[in-house]
Amino acid sequence: MLYIEPRETLDFDLGSLLSGGDGLSAQRRWVALAPHVGEEVEVDAAACTLLGEISAHAWTDTKDLPESARPVWRRLLKQGLLIGKGPTHAHWRARDEHVRSLHWHPLGATLQAFTRWQDNDAVQAMKDVGAETVPEMRQVLGAPPSEAYVDGDDEAGIDLPWAQGNGFDDLLLSRVTCRNFDAARPLPFTMFSQLMQRVFAAQDKIEGAPDTTFLKKTSPSGGGLHPVEAYCLLQHVEGIAPGLYHYDCVRHRLAPLPDPAMPLDELASVGVAYQHWFSNAHAMVMLVPRFDRTFWKYRQHMKGYRVIALESGHLSQTLYLAATEAGLGAFITAAVNEKPLEEAFGLQPMSQGVMAICGFGWRGEVMDTTELDPQNRIWQPADADA
Ligand SMILES: Cc1cc2nc3c(=O)[nH]c(=O)nc-3n(C[C@H](O)[C@H](O)[C@H](O)COP(=O)(O)O)c2cc1C
Repeated sequence: MLYIEPRETLDFDLGSLLSGGDGLSAQRRWVALAPHVGEEVEVDAAACTLLGEISAHAWTDTKDLPESARPVWRRLLKQGLLIGKGPTHAHWRARDEHVRSLHWHPLGATLQAFTRWQDNDAVQAMKDVGAETVPEMRQVLGAPPSEAYVDGDDEAGIDLPWAQGNGFDDLLLSRVTCRNFDAARPLPFTMFSQLMQRVFAAQDKIEGAPDTTFLKKTSPSGGGLHPVEAYCLLQHVEGIAPGLYHYDCVRHRLAPLPDPAMPLDELASVGVAYQHWFSNAHAMVMLVPRFDRTFWKYRQHMKGYRVIALESGHLSQTLYLAATEAGLGAFITAAVNEKPLEEAFGLQPMSQGVMAICGFGWRGEVMDTTELDPQNRIWQPADADA
């Protein structure tokens, strides 16, 4: 799998400014994106041409290539953009074979491989563009598209009745993304366990054919394959040592994982891209798809990656509702630094990647970071007691 992207970077250029230009100089180059390599590789036009001529499926004998191409293919072999047969090329060959064996669609694989962060600071990024608050966003970004598409008032429109709410509506309306956790109040073991049971546990299973088992869970899943595993970072759960765990959804059991190289609270913080309002949550759950489980059925399928992303959203909503019912707060974020998390949890990103992080726990007494609760379902207005 290989995509080649024309990339243009603009630099400040004093010479251009002084000679009446726009003060910018543009650099254009080709960047190769190969998921099995995992890092962008700059290539030249000769490399692009050669890559377009060599089969992805049948071996090419280098003797059949023109002598002038020798330095080009040698460089591409070194960079992993060409795969060689001999023992010196075993490293890239193994990585290429691994990705091939997982049945990715090339676009999905490229998205997965090249949208992972190492050390992104989502809070600083908002500061840098001067758009931390909504008025600042409006100022910097202009007006957003309207909040909803409103149809005209013609006769054909059908007014739907607003139904009387019941307990389920109360639950739905009390779901508010939590950005204020009370780390000093431990989460009881049984509450943690019940939430994991409700959201992530296999409730039942069906043997569809020999070696072909389907699990029943509380959220839907494309093909019933349930590829998303729960990897936990637990900081404040009573009776569970702070640390990393894999949740075994069939046995409803936590398997402890080795301690991360960095302190746990640091990993929590870098994991959620330094969003301090999430990093002290009692329990964080990394939503980690096993891509090959879904791609077993949906081979090289254009929608495969989309299905898995959607499923992560379903699990998050189930988690939000289960937490709300239990009197807890919950969140999801896709602003995650996948790379340090992969390292800490021992994940191979092309077979098991971090799609998002959910978390839950007790809310604090005070709303320090804004939450969206216009009906005051969770938070009383500051002057309520006055
Ligand atoms: C996929 C997804 C990613 C999100 N990422 C973030 C995030 O990075 N930081 C954050 O504070 N909230 C995040 N949220 C929460 C939204 O900001 C929140 O849902 C929205 O403001 C509406 O508020 P509500 O959930 O309380 O109704 C995310 C929500 C979703 C669905």
